[in-house]
Amino acid sequence: MKILVTGGAGYIGSHTCVELLNAGYDVVVVDNLYNASVKSLDRVQQITGKSLTFYNADITDAEAMNAVFEKEQDVACVIHFAGLKAVGESVAKPLEYYRNNITGTLVLCEAMRSHGVKNIIFSSSATVYGDPAFVPITEQCPKGTPTNPYGWTKHMIEQMLTDLHTADKDWNVILLRYFNPIGAHKSGLIGEDPKGIPNNLLPYVAQVAIGKLPCLGIFGDDYDTPDGTGVRDYIHVVDLALGHVAAINRIKENPGVKVYNLGTGKGYSVLDVVKAFGKACGREVPYRIMPRRPGDIATYYSDATLAKEELGWEAQYGIEEMCEDSWRWQSSNPDGYETK
Ligand code: NAD
Ligand code: WQD
Repeated sequence: MKILVTGGAGYIGSHTCVELLNAGYDVVVVDNLYNASVKSLDRVQQITGKSLTFYNADITDAEAMNAVFEKEQDVACVIHFAGLKAVGESVAKPLEYYRNNITGTLVLCEAMRSHGVKNIIFSSSATVYGDPAFVPITEQCPKGTPTNPYGWTKHMIEQMLTDLHTADKDWNVILLRYFNPIGAHKSGLIGEDPKGIPNNLLPYVAQVAIGKLPCLGIFGDDYDTPDGTGVRDYIHVVDLALGHVAAINRIKENPGVKVYNLGTGKGYSVLDVVKAFGKACGREVPYRIMPRRPGDIATYYSDATLAKEELGWEAQYGIEEMCEDSWRWQSSNPDGYETK
């Protein structure tokens, strides 16, 4: 069975390609390499011993997308990762974010419709809950008001895909709301490779640990949490990847529109992560306390029961393995995919 993966050369996409190939699927990747290296796909093939098909194409390019579907006649399902994802950058460049994420999804869906492909699994985000009405967050928690254009793109794309099913019941849509993906494949061959100074906690900690950055700034230690620092639901990227394989099994049952949280259901504080990373890399990670980051929420973690019940999926890895695997990737590839 053939699966088309947009954004498949990126962080979560490459790990998902590994698990799809391991599960016996044929994989076609469409990525414009805006935030990825084609080396990640070489490594995916090295890890699995299987090959995939790669198109260097932009999902906003209708001609290119139609050409891909012409060539790949029997796509059973699309997993749609392609998008821009930096929250702060989206505030500075809203048009770029709306164009890439919204127009990209529209063009992709039009090309899918023209070629009779009507199954899509979308990378949504827990960001759609905004400041959540309750924690742990279930899928019943109402969507909140996004505080940035990135969050709005996820919010709007969820609505667009839902409307598509309302208009044509042949469409099946699975919206996967990820919590905080971290870690890397056990092989140390693929992982997160952010360009420039990382925005997210884990790549920042990893770059401090390897000596590329001097010190971690912890954004606030006066939240109403056990140690005062922010609490998040970190999930190993391999668990997340396996969640997509489980979602494909679900979409085969023609479920209509379904929403699933992909998280572990456990919250860890920034200091918990710093400690676990220190243990994984064998040295203390230097940090200093900084003011709160605007827009941050104290505590944010999932209730992932629905995914367990309906997808038969549950996260397996804990924070220690997430940090160990992240460190293996960082220490064996200090400059990411550019490492000689
Ligand atoms: P990533 O940047 O590593 O992967 C995205 C990929 O999409 C990249 O390879 C990039 O080159 C590609 N891409 C971007 N625009 C494209 C376009 N117009 N045409 C073709 N390819 C394009 O990011 P990631 O962390 O792997 O995230 C994947 C998806 O999951 C994104 O949609 C992101 O918003 C979503 N998500 C990520 C997180 C997270 O914390 N990493 C959390 C929730 C949701
Ligand atoms: C985690 C914790 C920070 C960096 C973001 C997006 C969300 C989703 C995942 C895409 C917080 C603290 C961080 C640092 C710190 N992405 N921190 N120092 O904010 O939970 O979620 O990524 O959909 O939409 O908003 O993740 O990794 O930035 O922060 O103290 O240098 O680490 O304050 O408590 P966040 P994060």
